[in-house]
Amino acid sequence: MKAGYRQTVGDSHYYSASPGGKRRPGTVGLRVGDLDVELATDRGVFAADEVDFGTRYLLGEAPRPPQDGPLLDLGCGYGSIAVALGQWAPQAPLWAVDVNTRALELCRANLDRYGRPDATVCHPDEVPPDVRFAAIYSNPPIRIGKAALHEVLANWLGRLADEGQAYLVVNKNLGSDSLARWLNQQGWPTTRLSSRRGYRILEVQPQT
Ligand SMILES: C[S@@+](CC[C@H](N)C(=O)[O-])C[C@H]1O[C@@H](n2cnc3c(N)ncnc32)[C@H](O)[C@@H]1O
Repeated sequence: MKAGYRQTVGDSHYYSASPGGKRRPGTVGLRVGDLDVELATDRGVFAADEVDFGTRYLLGEAPRPPQDGPLLDLGCGYGSIAVALGQWAPQAPLWAVDVNTRALELCRANLDRYGRPDATVCHPDEVPPDVRFAAIYSNPPIRIGKAALHEVLANWLGRLADEGQAYLVVNKNLGSDSLARWLNQQGWPTTRLSSRRGYRILEVQPQT
């Protein structure tokens, strides 16, 4: 089983709105290129014990974010991607969304620690509908099921700016290739940017 998917707490999962169970605050290191940070984590969030390989791979392989933004970390967890984006594009408006309230708390704290108190960390429903993103980065919540995932992606990819790009990391065993086909069928031109250890990085353009 992948490290990132061990966070079942009683009957709740890392993508629960309010994970139950005892808390177990901790920290994990994230080193990618020039980025070297220590992030607060806790039980009940994705990859609580170690930053997920897919997330590190995405950050190491996908192009650096545009400096102007706005940027979005979709399904931010404790904010590995958001913190990296915040460091690499320090002036860009930055958004991080998740449905897990514990993840949102941690992501807020991690962005504050690394100099981005201006970033907006919130539930997906709280992002004003007129915000358009120059880039979206995501290790998306595959485990919520195909139909729900398609709905989430259609919603956020529909909010890419005209010249925007999205970068998604998805494991082959969790359906990366059929997801790429579905995105192309829906009119989001999608290509495989890179592939390693069963993970694919998908680059998605705005709908044509
Ligand atoms: C695979 S984890 C990635 C977490 C983090 N970005 C990382 O790389 O460690 C996916 C995240 O998506 C969140 N999620 C689940 N459903 C969601 C939804 N409808 N909208 C936004 N985020 C969601 C989960 O709570 C989880 O934190």
